[in-house]
Amino acid sequence: MPQLGFGIVGTGFIAGVIADAITRASNARLSAVSSRRIENARKFTANRPGVEAVQGVDSLLARADVQAVYVATPTVAKEEIALQAIAAGKHVLVDKPFIDQASVLRMTRAAAAKGLVFMDATHFVHHPRNAAIQAAIAEKIGPPRSLHTAFYFPFSDRENIRFDPTQEPMTALGDMAWYSMRAVVEYLRPEGRITKAVVAPERDPKTNAIVRASGLIAFDGGQVSTFDVGYTAGTVLMDLQLLGANGVIGMDDFVLDWESSSAFKDSGDKAGYAYRTGMGTRKDATFVPTPPRTAQESAMIEDFAELTASGDAVLRAAYAEATLKTQGYLDALWAAAGS
Ligand SMILES: NC(=O)c1ccc[n+]([C@@H]2O[C@H](COP(=O)([O-])OP(=O)(O)OC[C@H]3O[C@@H](n4cnc5c(N)ncnc54)[C@H](OP(=O)(O)O)[C@@H]3O)[C@@H](O)[C@H]2O)c1
Repeated sequence: MPQLGFGIVGTGFIAGVIADAITRASNARLSAVSSRRIENARKFTANRPGVEAVQGVDSLLARADVQAVYVATPTVAKEEIALQAIAAGKHVLVDKPFIDQASVLRMTRAAAAKGLVFMDATHFVHHPRNAAIQAAIAEKIGPPRSLHTAFYFPFSDRENIRFDPTQEPMTALGDMAWYSMRAVVEYLRPEGRITKAVVAPERDPKTNAIVRASGLIAFDGGQVSTFDVGYTAGTVLMDLQLLGANGVIGMDDFVLDWESSSAFKDSGDKAGYAYRTGMGTRKDATFVPTPPRTAQESAMIEDFAELTASGDAVLRAAYAEATLKTQGYLDALWAAAGS
């Protein structure tokens, strides 16, 4: 099988996760990793045989064995690097979130003009569960009217970019509510404009970073999503409930499934979703297993590589549209947070 050659910009936490995902993917290989400091790149590649360490984005983009670039930097640096990569003729996988929707538009338009793939690095949409739920909604619960999501993990390192508004302007709102808004795009699928956005943020007094936020976003036609996200609950929480007129679809691991995601190796839990209708109790809920074909972050890499190979312009545009919508909803929350 032909293998798409990836270059990674950045040597931090998520760069490591995705480097492993690229290595596991059947149709991709990791060619090189760039850092602003060559020592970081060398440290990163030390246990990755065959992967070159390079200094600076220019050196990465000059390589013929790099056909696609994964951007794993803080949000403030993403657009410039992605645009540079697109100008050099590389497909781009850019991690979430983004500065704003206008920034996403500049990147997606530049990529589309060159027939290149732009994809954001949201893992869960590549899990087979995503398509399974989308296909089941109408039959199992009827047209979705409201969606509640909660996404927390315990995190308190004030030295990390998550606590630095100069690196991650929306801090926890951008980091965590991204997934809530992506769930809106994938499952609630509102067609109308936003009619209301309300956010109650809690800020860290030392850094002014948002560390927790609860809120609501409503759409023309009456669809509503409520969300609760942050770092302060002392546990991981990934709950989702999608309510239709006839029932509810639910998951307790919607962001990083407990079966395949590298964050929870060998948990023994099975990926799937549950649905319930009428006055049924817990025992009446039906669990529908949706076995992963591989870890969901590797599935993302495989889908990305397949799309670069197929040249499917309709699918390319659909991914770009999903990113634009997600960031647009996030922008509305950011404005509502009074920032
Ligand atoms: N999709 C997901 O599941 C997921 C998960 C976690 C994080 N993320 C997102 O990914 C981004 C990075 O998160 P992280 O936890 O990996 O952060 P991190 O550990 O701080 O790593 C960021 C890396 O980017 C490079 N960098 C820093 N500032 C830069 C700049 N101004 N220009 C170019 N490169 C720069 C650094 O590498 P060098 O110093 O070697 O250049 C650094 O190691 C965040 O926006 C986060 O929200 C996504």
